[in-house]
Amino acid sequence: MTQTSPIVLLLSGANLNLLGDREPEIYGTETLADHVAASTEKAASHGLLIEHLQSNAEADLIDAIHGARSRCAAIIINPGAFTHYSWAIHDALASFAGPIVELHLSNPATREEWRHTSVVSPVASGTIAGFGGNGYRLAVEAVAGLLGI
Ligand code: DQA
Repeated sequence: MTQTSPIVLLLSGANLNLLGDREPEIYGTETLADHVAASTEKAASHGLLIEHLQSNAEADLIDAIHGARSRCAAIIINPGAFTHYSWAIHDALASFAGPIVELHLSNPATREEWRHTSVVSPVASGTIAGFGGNGYRLAVEAVAGLLGI
């Protein structure tokens, strides 16, 4: 991959560092590293470069979004539980000009009531949810389509 490949920022929010171990009946047995590897491979097939950050701290995710402005071509974000209440992440994403794909392993719409609200959805180009680990590849495909690559 050359340095001129467009960069897609993949952001993983709270508790996603525990994937593989955390509630595998809901989130599967693959680790976050597995998902990043799958995303990276799919991205490479489109000439895109994945840059990944996981953090349990809202501020780190916000800083990464700021850093992506005019540097990254697109953002894929699974905010974890921040999805449901972080207006600060909403506002940071609103400042990003490129495509934004909201991603969830599970389908929050079929789960507890409090998960039915996403404050990220209004500023996302679209949402991929409920397809487990395959969602990471689908999200990269969605980004490639939105970028016209
Ligand atoms: C999640 C869904 C959220 O409701 C939850 O808080 C997560 C993971 C998902 O990928 O399914 O941490 O974003």
